Amino acid sequence: MKALVLSGGKGTRLRPLTFTCAKQLIPVANKPILGYVLDQVAAIKIEDVGVITAPETGQFVKDYVADGSSWGVNVTYITQEPLGLAHAVKTARGFLGPDSFVMCLGDNLTGQGLEGFVKRFKSEHLDALIILKEVETPSSFGIAQLDEKGNIVKLAEKPKTPMGNLAIIGTYLFSSKVHQAIERIQPSWRGELEITDAIQEMINMGFNVKAEILNSWWLDTGKKDDILSANAKILDEYIQREICGVVANSTVDGRVKVESEAQIINSVVRGPCIIGKNVLVENSFIGPYTSVGDGSKISRSNLEYCVVQENVVLSDVERMEDSLIGKNARVSRNQRCRTIKLHVGDYSEVEV
Ligand code: G1P
Repeated sequence: MKALVLSGGKGTRLRPLTFTCAKQLIPVANKPILGYVLDQVAAIKIEDVGVITAPETGQFVKDYVADGSSWGVNVTYITQEPLGLAHAVKTARGFLGPDSFVMCLGDNLTGQGLEGFVKRFKSEHLDALIILKEVETPSSFGIAQLDEKGNIVKLAEKPKTPMGNLAIIGTYLFSSKVHQAIERIQPSWRGELEITDAIQEMINMGFNVKAEILNSWWLDTGKKDDILSANAKILDEYIQREICGVVANSTVDGRVKVESEAQIINSVVRGPCIIGKNVLVENSFIGPYTSVGDGSKISRSNLEYCVVQENVVLSDVERMEDSLIGKNARVSRNQRCRTIKLHVGDYSEVEV
């Protein structure tokens, strides 16, 4: 079995961050989502991993994943114009050959790993296994309708009138028969070859397709608020108390990871939180569910439920919540007059 990890796409809903970074590389708890996805692939002992990248952001992904040796896998990069998930499979056909494979979206993560799905896929000799989760906004996802026995009745990609609330999440298992189905489908109204249409075609062709309802959490990090909730979830699940840096005249409560060469001075930090390497926090309050990236400097500021990426400077920010701050950004208080002075990138969002 091989793995196909999708790390392409345009990331339009996460602009401006995705002008200088692939959306799968936006860190949660100071580690890109893609890193957690590769951890899960490596955990099921898959050796050959195809990583799909987009022409614009592929180099960022290559710089992070390199040859895959940090995960103990061999990586093959496949460049794809963002024309749909089934188009990605089609583009990777040479790499996949006759093998079955697990396909993971590089910006999706579940709380239960892949082992159980692979076991079922193999023992029941399936051609496709899709994983479902209840959602509140079914028209934003691929949706599956099941009968009382749990068999798939019908699938639809982002239906305007949804036939239920079970979304197809970004983990799929396929036999090589998926390629036959992809050959038969046409691009959707959004001009993409949809994997949902390919799976529906597999059902129409009489292949053995099953669905399983996920019983853990699922994160899909396509937008700012999703990144913040993914950050909170990952901090909750994975962060243990570990203080490597310096804490002076400060209170550090609960599950807080302070990485090496970080300094917390005259401050309060409440977990779950991660403070990256070489970060300086002084005269500040860092509230729960906050990640501060390596090399950032926070002075005389209060923040909570935030993702602050690397080398950010925050000073005199009275209260900052629910915020996602990109690498090398500076946010400070204008001391002289009560005006707001902005220098923000294209597609930024600022609430004042
Ligand atoms: C894609 C799939 C959709 C699936 C979703 C899960 O949507 O097309 O079927 O439910 O991923 O994240 P997209 O991210 O292209 O909007």
